[in-house]
Amino acid sequence: MSDPKFTPRVFSGMQPSGGLTLGNYLGAMKRWVDMQNAGTHQTIYCMVDLHAITAKLQDPDTLRESTREVCAGYIAAGIDPERSILFNQSQVAEHTQLAWIFNCVARMGWMGRMTQWKDKAGKNAENASLGLFAYPALMAADILVYHATHVPVGEDQKQHLELTRDIAAKFNHDYGVDFFPITEPVIEGAATRVMNLQDGTKKMSKSDPSDRTRINLTDDADTIAKKIRKAKTDPDPLPDTIKGLDGRPEARNLVNIYAGLAEVTPAEVVAQHAGSQFGHFKVALADLAVEKLASISSEMARLMDDKAEIDRILRRGAERAREIASPILDQTYDIVGMLR
Ligand code: TRP
Repeated sequence: MSDPKFTPRVFSGMQPSGGLTLGNYLGAMKRWVDMQNAGTHQTIYCMVDLHAITAKLQDPDTLRESTREVCAGYIAAGIDPERSILFNQSQVAEHTQLAWIFNCVARMGWMGRMTQWKDKAGKNAENASLGLFAYPALMAADILVYHATHVPVGEDQKQHLELTRDIAAKFNHDYGVDFFPITEPVIEGAATRVMNLQDGTKKMSKSDPSDRTRINLTDDADTIAKKIRKAKTDPDPLPDTIKGLDGRPEARNLVNIYAGLAEVTPAEVVAQHAGSQFGHFKVALADLAVEKLASISSEMARLMDDKAEIDRILRRGAERAREIASPILDQTYDIVGMLR
């Protein structure tokens, strides 16, 4: 349940690691655009460059370029920098200022239980950065510095959102206030999770060594069509109910991708193509993918041609973000007892 005390506000963030894929598009970008267009919430979207340096050293020029590229991708996909606030995390200092307070609210034990910390730090935790350990406190600050009420994320971020709620609740309790909202996660459904084109049990990933396993948002029409034609499937035709996709991860993935792009349910796709051979279905899917994605890739390329314009959009976004974040940070510091 949303607390009526807080403005309905969506916040989400994405690491600017470049190389956007169809998985990013259907899993995150398109959902963010839909939330913007629904008009029910104010929408704030952020490239989290400060998070991008927690796990490993990033080449400075590559990081700058990736931040611009992800920004261009979001705009190309339909984020309107006027209707939404679109900005880069490090350009709004309030995030790190609030993160410090949260570093003092969150407990070592809570952080140590984060599965992403355990996975990323692995056996070599002694050598992981302090920033990687504190990552979820910065993420909580990203969200709560806007008093965001709803946060769309993938399943893998659910635990970090629970931690965000714990931090908000402990802060409110420790200081005897009702200041931070208990944010609602909006978890991505299985149908929008795009899997690897050659192995339907793995997520589509920009870091997979084989380019055939994914569709990049920068791929041209021929490349998109070829990758779909060569995607792995099984010898059976499309079933007539989604139940018939059980145990057929590659078949299910292609149906899900079709559904996501066509904005219908997987059940409707199956009903429409029941009995059809995958060879046939892939032709229809390739046409659909090219139709939906070609304009995004050309728009992205056009935007990337004018970097000064992207930088201007991000500076303006940061200014607008600060208008919300700055008074919330001020009140937080006041609650904590920092002289203002
Ligand atoms: N941790 C998120 C991810 O890797 C990115 C992120 C950072 C984020 N801050 C956030 C997502 C705030 C939602 C809200 O996907």
